[in-house]
Amino acid sequence: MRANGWDAASQMNFDYHLQRLLGRATCRLGPGVRLLRTARIRNIRGDSDCITIGANSIIRGELATFAHGGRIEIGSWCYVGEGSRIWSGASVVIGDRVLIAHSVNVFDNLTHPIDPEARHRQIQAIFNHGHPREIDLDDQPVRIEDDAWLGAGSFVMRGVRIGARAIVAAGSVVTKDVASDTTVAGNPAEVIKSGLEARV
Ligand SMILES: CC(C)(COP(=O)(O)OP(=O)(O)OC[C@H]1O[C@@H](n2cnc3c(N)ncnc32)[C@H](O)[C@@H]1OP(=O)(O)O)[C@@H](O)C(=O)NCCC(=O)NCCS
Repeated sequence: MRANGWDAASQMNFDYHLQRLLGRATCRLGPGVRLLRTARIRNIRGDSDCITIGANSIIRGELATFAHGGRIEIGSWCYVGEGSRIWSGASVVIGDRVLIAHSVNVFDNLTHPIDPEARHRQIQAIFNHGHPREIDLDDQPVRIEDDAWLGAGSFVMRGVRIGARAIVAAGSVVTKDVASDTTVAGNPAEVIKSGLEARV
């Protein structure tokens, strides 16, 4: 066992190799990237260039694009914890040294239509043959800037920008932009500390 707990068994990602073996799109990995055992790449859009992971990042969670769109860009030295999900129908762009704890959800879209009939049509499509290629899920890009930290169990909703060095407290639901050097907490997340105060 290595001192950091990432022994050979936890580093083996059979799912990634199976996806590639099945001829499915996966992702582009920078040098030194580790997709650990629990990482899942579901690139339903079908283009491996749509998910990129920068040098030395470690992924334990799920990165997924939808059939109708989506792009995920992760910078260098980032961490995506176990049970975290980044689901993109527009784009999720993550800077460098961003720490995403376990059980975090980042969605740049509604996932399902608001209108109940459209929602049922989507569900029927998913159940019968897969995600529809033509659908409007109010997709709005998400941006998470350098050195941000998303605490465990937090949610980042569509259209949100999380500024550089910002902290999202555990269990928060972020529905609006977070300024750089700010800490937010709660549901919906509100500023609890800003500027220098957030750094001490
Ligand atoms: C936000 C956090 C970093 C603490 O930051 P901090 O600057 O030291 O903030 P404080 O502890 O001084 O709390 C400031 C206020 O926010 C509140 N607060 C802190 N965390 C909160 C949370 N998760 N939800 C709601 N309110 C929270 C505090 O109760 C306090 O309220 P008060 O001023 O009314 O007393 C920490 O609470 C946290 O959530 N860490 C994430 C841990 C995690 O997810 N680890 C997983 C491994 S990466």
